[in-house]
Amino acid sequence: MSTPATSDRVALVTGGNRGIGRAIAERLVADGYRVAVTARSGSGPAGALTVIADVNDAASLDQAVAEVESALGPITIVVANAGITKDTLLMRMSDDDFSNVVDTNLGGAFRTVKRAIKSMIKARRGRIILISSVSGLFGVAGQANYSASKSGLVGFARAITRELGGRGITANVVAPGFIESDMTAELDDKTQAEYRKQIPAGRYGTAEEIAGVVSWLAGDEASYISGAVIPVDGGLGMGH
Ligand SMILES: NC(=O)c1ccc[n+]([C@@H]2O[C@H](COP(=O)([O-])OP(=O)(O)OC[C@H]3O[C@@H](n4cnc5c(N)ncnc54)[C@H](OP(=O)(O)O)[C@@H]3O)[C@@H](O)[C@H]2O)c1
Repeated sequence: MSTPATSDRVALVTGGNRGIGRAIAERLVADGYRVAVTARSGSGPAGALTVIADVNDAASLDQAVAEVESALGPITIVVANAGITKDTLLMRMSDDDFSNVVDTNLGGAFRTVKRAIKSMIKARRGRIILISSVSGLFGVAGQANYSASKSGLVGFARAITRELGGRGITANVVAPGFIESDMTAELDDKTQAEYRKQIPAGRYGTAEEIAGVVSWLAGDEASYISGAVIPVDGGLGMGH
């Protein structure tokens, strides 16, 4: 089978209106892909199509995927990036705090990927990229819900790899460490300084550093990598 040009490939990024998702969409646009982002509000970067969807709302994802495929063509790259935190110690964590985070971060990835793989199976080509976190395998106190959701993505990617690996589809996990973003800006200065001390690189990462790895995983050079967890964390989670 001949390799389609980058400009013939369609990428969908969830949560592409801000933060890491927006940087990923910008990078994929710069790489020459046809790019769509989902947003609950606002819009993605210039050059990307924005469709409204909430990853907790299956009907909105049905609609979003249909819109993207009719405007841009069959999706062959999906980046499940949308995610939330609701940090608190386990003793104080409500059932809702747990289920909302797991349903958004893990359930949202499932609902998105499930809808995107139909075209990939037909094309016998696809890239599934799940944005996890160092918190998933390293574990972070106060993040029982978030760590559980993010490690769940690893099992999800590996099950997909076994199911669909023979059809030219790869599924990988990117595990960012602490990245400069709205999510980490919520931490107070003392906590931020404490976290920084633990990072061998001595600094937070940037959204562009995550986007660069996603770009590489989406491309032809990563065609034989599947079921992998790629840390982008300045060494914070090494060994995990
Ligand atoms: N920042 C970090 O240090 C860090 C570290 C490790 C992993 N991560 C992971 O990287 C991903 C992006 O994080 P970020 O730092 O860019 O976070 P962010 O700035 O808080 O952005 C989160 C994105 O997810 C979207 N989102 C949240 N819930 C959604 C839902 N139910 N349906 C649709 N979209 C939803 C948000 O949309 P709205 O604008 O509508 O809220 C937003 O676009 C997340 O999965 C996060 O867990 C981040």
